[in-house]
Amino acid sequence: MENKMKASAFLLLLCVILGSFGICKAGGQIKEVVEKLCQNLGIVGKLGIGNEDHAKGLKMDYYEESCPQVEGIVRNITWSKVANNSTLAAKLLRIHYHDCFVRGCDASLLLDSTSNNTAEKEASPNRALTGYEVIDEIKSKLEKECPNTVSCADIVALVARDAVSYQFQRPIWKVPTGRKDGRVSLASEVLPSLPSPFADFPTLLQNFENHSLGINDLVTLSGAHTLGRTHCTLIAKRLYNFTGKGDTDPSLDSDYAETLKTICPVPINPATTLEMDPGSSLSFDSHYYMALNQNKTLFLSDSALLTNPQAAALAKDLQNFDDFLEHFKVSINKMGAIGVLTDGKGGEIRRTAELSILKSSWF
Ligand SMILES: *[C@@H]1O[C@H](CO)[C@@H](O)[C@H](O)[C@H]1NC(C)=O
Ligand SMILES: *[C@@H]1O[C@H](CO)[C@@H](O)[C@H](O)[C@H]1NC(C)=O
Ligand SMILES: *[C@@H]1O[C@H](CO)[C@@H](O)[C@H](O)[C@H]1NC(C)=O
Ligand SMILES: *[C@@H]1O[C@H](CO)[C@@H](O)[C@H](O)[C@H]1NC(C)=O
Ligand SMILES: *[C@@H]1O[C@H](CO)[C@@H](O)[C@H](O)[C@H]1NC(C)=O
Ligand SMILES: *[C@@H]1O[C@H](CO)[C@@H](O)[C@H](O)[C@H]1NC(C)=O
Ligand SMILES: *[C@@H]1O[C@H](CO)[C@@H](O)[C@H](O)[C@H]1NC(C)=O
Repeated sequence: MENKMKASAFLLLLCVILGSFGICKAGGQIKEVVEKLCQNLGIVGKLGIGNEDHAKGLKMDYYEESCPQVEGIVRNITWSKVANNSTLAAKLLRIHYHDCFVRGCDASLLLDSTSNNTAEKEASPNRALTGYEVIDEIKSKLEKECPNTVSCADIVALVARDAVSYQFQRPIWKVPTGRKDGRVSLASEVLPSLPSPFADFPTLLQNFENHSLGINDLVTLSGAHTLGRTHCTLIAKRLYNFTGKGDTDPSLDSDYAETLKTICPVPINPATTLEMDPGSSLSFDSHYYMALNQNKTLFLSDSALLTNPQAAALAKDLQNFDDFLEHFKVSINKMGAIGVLTDGKGGEIRRTAELSILKSSWF
């Protein structure tokens, strides 16, 4: 009897400790195990079950009542991280893109693989992504301030905005919130869902239309290539063997192609990276479109934009930063609404313990 009480006291303590962690990378089975355990101990709700309200879709200030500090907390932590290392801005924006294009903006990208499931994170286009630790740090802080309230999916959307906005010292677009987190994350869905850097215009547009986005969104969201770097492996074919005859892609500016060859010599070193927007890869600006119009972008999917007259015309207009920003505000929020799990659509506020702790205890 005494032992049994000791055991329950221990488990109760464990639930409380686990409940105080906020981590976006564990869900599904682990969450179920913890919830069942804690439900048995009578602390239902601690881990984020129930407590849903019934708003229909995304809206501004969704957390106005439930967690008014959310935007301040996300911004403070994100800004301090980006201030320390400006390469993070591109990484945090990319997490938002890669999350939304696969199963919608439901933070499924953040889930870790489990014994019977290989998660999105492990698919090839996602293996180079980093910056997840910023999201987890914010999640932990928010779980302390407003437990069970803010979804990982909303954090991802807010962090992307704040990471990009740091250089302006003000938020440069508004983010409607109210997303819930998904429970399913399948590596096999990633390649078919993400737009490919090797795709031609019709394929890109089809991919965007599959996500309820159009030509304007395609051209505008491509502007995110103003930030960040990529690997030589993704452009090797364009530089050295475009049609299989040892040739260079003629749609690439020939001087620029020579420069790229010096950065990415044969044999290609998979570790070598290069700026997507030459000379300006840490700055969110419209320089990408200037490079694009000079045939100086890296991916086939960039050059492809110039092969469609409507897209090419917009790519000219967006060389103006104010125009780019106006378009970006609209398109990033259309992207941020892809497949969202709002109330009543089967999502949850993910909130569970760190995988490794549970592994050592129960698995
Ligand atoms: C964010 O940081 C500012 C300046 O350091 C501080 O005044 C403010 O209270 C912080 N906000 C939150 C919500 O932590
Ligand atoms: C700042 O960045 C460096 C290197 O990227 C990292 O080692 C360090 O932990 C970061 N500091 C903070 C406070 O995040
Ligand atoms: C920023 O972080 C990246 C990796 O996340 C690292 O390669 C780079 O050296 C860091 N920059 C600085 C200035 O610490
Ligand atoms: C993994 O196994 C658990 C239980 O063992 C099951 O509930 C879950 O559906 C399985 N997941 C997949 C993706 O098969
Ligand atoms: C668009 O969706 C259809 C139907 O799901 C799919 O077969 C097709 O491969 C998708 N196309 C692209 C380019 O993603
Ligand atoms: C160039 O492409 C052709 C056809 O795909 C292939 O046979 C050849 O091995 C490639 N050359 C190099 C150097 O990769
Ligand atoms: C870009 O390439 C196209 C052909 O692919 C060419 O018509 C155009 O003149 C080039 N633009 C510049 C600025 O070199």
